[in-house]
Amino acid sequence: MLQLHVLSVCHVLVLVLCLSAAEDFDWTKNHRGSFYYGTFPTGFSWGVGSSAYQTEGAWDKDGKGMSIWDVFTHKKGKVIYNETGDSSCEGYYKVKDDIALLKELKLNHYRFSISWPRIMPTGIKSDHVNEKGIKYYDDLINLLLENKITPIVTLYHWDLPQVLQERYGGWQNLSMINYFNDYANLCFERFGNRVKYWITFNNPWSIAVEGYETGEHAPGMKLRGSGPYKAAHYIIKAHAKVWHTYDNQWRSKQKGMVGISLNGDWGEPVDITSQKDIEAAERYIQFYLGWFATPIFNGDYPQVMKDYIGRKSAQQGLGTSRLPTFSSQEKSYIKGTCDFLGIGHFTTRYITQKNFPASHGPSYFTDRDLAELVDPRWPDPSSEWLYSVPWGFRRLLNFVKTQYGNPMIYVTENGVSEKMTCTELCDDWRMQYFKEYINEMLKAIKDGVNVKGYTAWSLLDKFEWDEGYSERFGLYYVDFRNKNKPRYPKASVQYYKRIISSNGFPSQKEAENWHRKAIETCSSSNQLLAAEQQRTTAANILRLIHDPLTSHMEMVTEIVVPTVCTLCILLSAIFLMFLLRRHN
Ligand code: BGC
Repeated sequence: MLQLHVLSVCHVLVLVLCLSAAEDFDWTKNHRGSFYYGTFPTGFSWGVGSSAYQTEGAWDKDGKGMSIWDVFTHKKGKVIYNETGDSSCEGYYKVKDDIALLKELKLNHYRFSISWPRIMPTGIKSDHVNEKGIKYYDDLINLLLENKITPIVTLYHWDLPQVLQERYGGWQNLSMINYFNDYANLCFERFGNRVKYWITFNNPWSIAVEGYETGEHAPGMKLRGSGPYKAAHYIIKAHAKVWHTYDNQWRSKQKGMVGISLNGDWGEPVDITSQKDIEAAERYIQFYLGWFATPIFNGDYPQVMKDYIGRKSAQQGLGTSRLPTFSSQEKSYIKGTCDFLGIGHFTTRYITQKNFPASHGPSYFTDRDLAELVDPRWPDPSSEWLYSVPWGFRRLLNFVKTQYGNPMIYVTENGVSEKMTCTELCDDWRMQYFKEYINEMLKAIKDGVNVKGYTAWSLLDKFEWDEGYSERFGLYYVDFRNKNKPRYPKASVQYYKRIISSNGFPSQKEAENWHRKAIETCSSSNQLLAAEQQRTTAANILRLIHDPLTSHMEMVTEIVVPTVCTLCILLSAIFLMFLLRRHN
């Protein structure tokens, strides 16, 4: 009997091991194999992306309200060179031009975001709906559809209405959930007959950590070790509420999908044979992507976050964990609220275990007990955080597959930058980056990951948040010094176009040919840009020469005119006194 009992316990154990093995990511299996020639599944969707604040400009036009980014960038010292998105690429006025660029690429989809304060100036529906803002997005959507380009629409790419920040403290306040739901509901009502792919939030990790922990992003708060967890908590609830709103009120009529776009760098253990490093790397990913994905797919925060933040909070003398908790009702309400998962991915880090004593004080970064490292051999064309490590992409996609039940994935951001001062349109490094990253995505699909589409980031060079215009992510170069903000194709336009038309990489010979052709065509664009820049420089020099002249003239009118007047009055007074005396 006892024997039987032991046997059945063993059976259960084996079964549990098998089940969990099916879900486990294999850290030791990292085939970095050679380039894979082949094509993507039929119907794979190719696109490019952008976001409202980064490209639209027209920050105070046609009844738009202010967003936290308008206010943040207008404060000194928040953004490199105090740059703002006030006019940016003037995308608001260039819808037709930009759609022509999308057509040129022969894309299947275009990912853009709606500016909440452009259509609801205070963020509150009952205050006012701005019909001019609605019309702008109506026209954009209609034009896309006329050109057979599917819109993928993000509801929140970081530009919270300033009124909600001032009145309630933004994402530190529970009331954001209902305001966001009202806004999303209006978008479903007004655009949902034509938009079938909705993304609630873009990269909530950045909203939480950079907005409420480091303060590098709007609203610039530094509520270390608590602010980001609270913000994330309300964002997750807001996402779930919007998904349910769509599910209950719109899905049957509109037949669309609602997802979220999560960013995640890959974290690779420094020493793959060290269990501590493997655990540290997994913690890195759980604190990044898992923070949002685990509640949405599995119903609660990752266990490792609960353990680490809970323990540190207790050591810091707090009665409860700095990581908020979901009630069991909330857990089941949140679980499964994702029709597709958007993945934004740019780079990779090596991770090793590192202890931070709780006495360091509360902080998201020290809660994780790890250190991030990079390999100095990794290429890093511009952004100091962005190293090109293509194999990390395949690893991340496989991790998502194993952890969240192989969800439907759309890659919503992937790309690389160069420096602002770089006027080289033959962007070899970007072609290389796209070629290798897209190839790793193809390998991931062969591994069984369910990727349905890819969005190159980004269509244009644009405002890069606290980095201002210092980093250029565009397939198209934008000449920001020229007030018309002309766009010029970089070589990667031609290259990406070929990948799209071949739906992958049919053969080595062809891929090499694409590269050669792209370089050939970009040299003529280079000449065009150089000529245009000479003209702009000449115009700027003229303005500079002219400027001191006008300011001098202003000085003359400001100083000389009043002085002469005063002298005249004085002289007349003296003359009058002299006359009067003589008269007496
Ligand atoms: C953001 C984009 C930004 C990119 C590069 C992403 O996390 O969502 O808006 O352009 O990072 O800085």
